[in-house]
Parts: sequence; C-alpha cells; structure tokens
Amino acid sequence: MIHRPRILRQTAALRHLVAETRLAPTDLIAPLFVVEGEGLAEGIPSLPGYYRRSLDRTVAEVEALLALGVYAVLLFVKCPDERKDNVGTEALNPEGLMQRSVRALKRAFGERLCVMTDVALDPYSSYGHDGLVENGQIVNDPTVAVLAQMAVSHAQAGADLVAPSDMMDGRVGGIRQALEAAGHFQTGILSYSAKYASCFYGPFRDALDSAPGFGDKKTYQMDPANRLEALREVALDVAEGADLVMVKPALAYLDIIREVRNAVRLPVAAYHVSGEYAMIKAAAQRGWLDETQAILETTTAIKRAGADLIATYFVKQLAQRLA
Ligand code: PBG
Repeated sequence: MIHRPRILRQTAALRHLVAETRLAPTDLIAPLFVVEGEGLAEGIPSLPGYYRRSLDRTVAEVEALLALGVYAVLLFVKCPDERKDNVGTEALNPEGLMQRSVRALKRAFGERLCVMTDVALDPYSSYGHDGLVENGQIVNDPTVAVLAQMAVSHAQAGADLVAPSDMMDGRVGGIRQALEAAGHFQTGILSYSAKYASCFYGPFRDALDSAPGFGDKKTYQMDPANRLEALREVALDVAEGADLVMVKPALAYLDIIREVRNAVRLPVAAYHVSGEYAMIKAAAQRGWLDETQAILETTTAIKRAGADLIATYFVKQLAQRLA
C-alpha cells in the first residue's frame, strides 16, 4: 500500500478542508486596561500597539471589537497611587473605576457583551501583591474575604463573570458563597486555576504599575516546574464551583492546557500573556519574524492544545485577520 500524506496538503483549499483547528473571533477574550480620565489612549512601552484607555475610549474600542465578532472583554483598571492601601479599599468602592466601567459597558451593550472582571488586589495594593500583607506574608483567608466582597461588588455592577487571578486557596468557594448570599445567582466564575509565577507578566505590571514592592509571587502563584499540581488546583476550583477554568501563561504551558482540557468538562481558557505578546512584537519590529504568521501560529497552537477560549492582546489584529 502506498501512502501519500502530502496529497491533503497540495492546495490551500485542501488544507483548509482538513484543518483540525480553526480559530474564530468568538474564541477570543479582549483584555482591556482602563484608566481614569477622558479621551485617553496611553501607549505602554513594553506592550507596543496596546493601550490603556479612559472609559469613553474603552466603550468605543468595545464597539469595534463587537463589530469584529469578539464578544468578551476582561477588565483591568489602573488605580492611582494615592488610593492604594493594604486592605483593598478602592477595590470595593461602588464608585470605583472597575464598577463604573462594568456599568458603562453593560449600559452600552447589554447582553451583546460578556463582561469579565479581574478579581485580585495587586493593582490596588500599596505592596503590589495580590493579597493582604501582614508581617511580610501574603495572608490567605483574610484575602479571600476581601476578594469575595470584591466579586460581589463587580456582580452588583453587572459583571457576567468574575475572574479571580490571585491564586489564594479557597477563593473560588469563598466567592461562590458570597455571590449566593448576596443573591447573585447568575454571576459566573472564570477561575485562573493554574496560574504560574511567570516572568512573562512583566509588561502587564508596567501597564498597571502593579509590580510587587517586595519579594515575588512564588508563595501563591505556581512553580513552572509543576504539572500535577495544576491538576490539583483545577480539581479544587471545579469542586468549589468554578464555571470556567484558565491556564496562564499559554505558550510555555501548552502541555498543561492539554492536561486540563482532558481532565475537566468545563470550558477551558488560556491567557496568552503580556510578555508573550511583547516577544512577538519585539522580534517583528526588528524584522526577525513575520508578525501575522507568528500570531496565527501561536494562537492556533494554544487552541490545538485544548483552549476553548484565548485571552490575548492580539485580539483585534487576530479578529481582523479572521473576519
Ligand atoms: C494580577 C494579574 C497579572 C496578570 C493578570 N492578572 C499579573 C501578576 O500576576 O502579576 C498578568 C497578565 C499578563 O501578563 O498579560 N492578578
């Protein structure tokens, strides 16, 4: 018997016909950075081509994303220094930028848009950590109590999904209970279940001015060396009531994405993070990589590994290309 696998690669039409993985704009989640002010779109040097926008400009950007078929946004806000403290006061402010952003987006787009909110204290923390700090330690249970209140506050504003990105133990359960107690039966939880202590978050921390003021995040985010631990974390989040689980970063963790996809029946998201974006941009700027091809190959690989949803800063470029 003669086998000629190249037959199915002969023409673009054939290749398209047998492609096993297809990206669509509906697979994508747009991370958005919101800042106070009006008419602002501030460049971020380590994220070339990506912006922090004031709320009015954010609404306009979401309109453009919806027109491209992207229906989900993941919101992060930049908190001014003078409002940062160690207890997340601004994170709970019903008139805070996050709460106002959620309300404005839901008012503008209603059910056409899925609004997801970041639930973690680092942008609000005077220490730049995801939790409360006591005696130089990031304390778990007091942090979970604040995160649960924060999630309720986002739900109150109209968030469809709250997305805890802090990696405290028990926070999904704490958030679920708090949402139930407050009557928010329809707010979902997208849990950053397997989030690694990664150097690839650098540009994001520049964007939000949220780098840790002391130490690192290794006592709560996971060791890149570990695989089974990711499965334990995911199992806990599923048991605690997560509606979707996420792996982060994406490209250096494709094996983890695949394992998680095989292990759970929930939708799996992957976060193609800021440093992963910056790597491609930097190489493309020097003419060392074809940017469009690098974006397509990378995101297709993330989907092939098992991600149903991909959060990526290339969202607009990619959606334009896929349209
Ligand atoms: C913080 C948070 C981080 C990211 C999302 N939420 C940074 C961190 O953990 O320090 C990173 C996203 C990115 O790099 O694109 N809770």
